Amino acid sequence: MKFRKLTPEVIKDKVVIIRVDFNVPLKDGKVMDTTRIEESIPTLKFILENNPKELHILTHAGRPKGQVVPEVSTAHLIPDTEKYLGEKIEFRPDYSKGTSKIQLHENCRFYPGEKKNDPALGQEIFDNIQPDIFIIDGFAVCHRAQASVIGLEGKVPCYPGFLIEKEIEALSPFLTDKKLPGLTILIGGLKMETKVPVLRHFAKVAENILVGGGLANTFQVAKGVSIGESLYEEEELAAAKEVMDIAKANNTNFLLPEDTICAGDIESTDTEEVAIGEVTGNKKIFDIGSQTINHYAEVLKNSSTVIWNGPMGVLEKEQFANGTKEMLMTIKDLKSAKTILGGGDTLKSLKKWNISKSEFSHVSTGGGAMLEFLAGNELPGFKILEE
Ligand code: 3PG
Repeated sequence: MKFRKLTPEVIKDKVVIIRVDFNVPLKDGKVMDTTRIEESIPTLKFILENNPKELHILTHAGRPKGQVVPEVSTAHLIPDTEKYLGEKIEFRPDYSKGTSKIQLHENCRFYPGEKKNDPALGQEIFDNIQPDIFIIDGFAVCHRAQASVIGLEGKVPCYPGFLIEKEIEALSPFLTDKKLPGLTILIGGLKMETKVPVLRHFAKVAENILVGGGLANTFQVAKGVSIGESLYEEEELAAAKEVMDIAKANNTNFLLPEDTICAGDIESTDTEEVAIGEVTGNKKIFDIGSQTINHYAEVLKNSSTVIWNGPMGVLEKEQFANGTKEMLMTIKDLKSAKTILGGGDTLKSLKKWNISKSEFSHVSTGGGAMLEFLAGNELPGFKILEE
């Protein structure tokens, strides 16, 4: 990958469109976590310091499925963006031009053509805004081949913003086929489909893979271990076996929970710690147990690099959040290791326990994008930036 480089000359007197990812949690019109806005401020400031003619900001928020959903209007993003940028921003309800220098347009996903990358929508953006250049700074959306991400390809030169450069710098060292001694991957959450490609890769190159969350259940079943009535993904059993086989063939320690926190259902506070193998009957697993926490913590403490994506249990329920909290605190205290975090729920855990991003070497803004990048997939949003 050799990308074009954003320089002052590229911006001066130009009509600039920037595609950021301000897909932030919104509640009653308020931004609950401004991380993704803050992370694009250096690129936005750089653009403004270099005298563009106009700056048009595009982003999606939520998954409104091609409909106008006022709760996720990008108008809600204006106060925080203005605060961090220190500039007034005009809100545009569509892709038409306003009169101010800085304009933030309405949610890209209100358009039915956005998700299917309808060429007519790319053309509409181009015809309305008449841009000279296009910048992508929204790393977290680069794995989506959508109109606001790649629809201007071939129409104007496309450049990466500084957030893209920062993410690539932090994550590229892991795109290797060589064994990386001291590298531990801690992975949790749900949805095998999004995690199997990255697990296939790290089953070859990491030293340890520690699995938690709902993901672990599918691996337990693939190994023939009983998980009671816990949820797992039947259609992913073959993929789970394949990942474990790759790990074995490459001498990668692949660890699953040895004990768990179980309850009858997710709302129940009547919990019990149950050793794996004894999760029978109608028991359901909702978190990792204390023995697993200790074992995983020991492995993490002996690692020189840790990559973490996905919670160990149900983060939203206090009674099932302890495994995630303990892993977070352990990783935070690893003073000499390189620590890399990513994924929406992982970031939520920082906020939940009030831990600063500065405690870690790199906190990725990407969830799916980080996983796809680390799996070695070419991201559509990156392809258009190549020289
Ligand atoms: C994310 O939050 O991972 C990105 O904003 C992409 O959102 P999506 O998964 O709805 O495409």
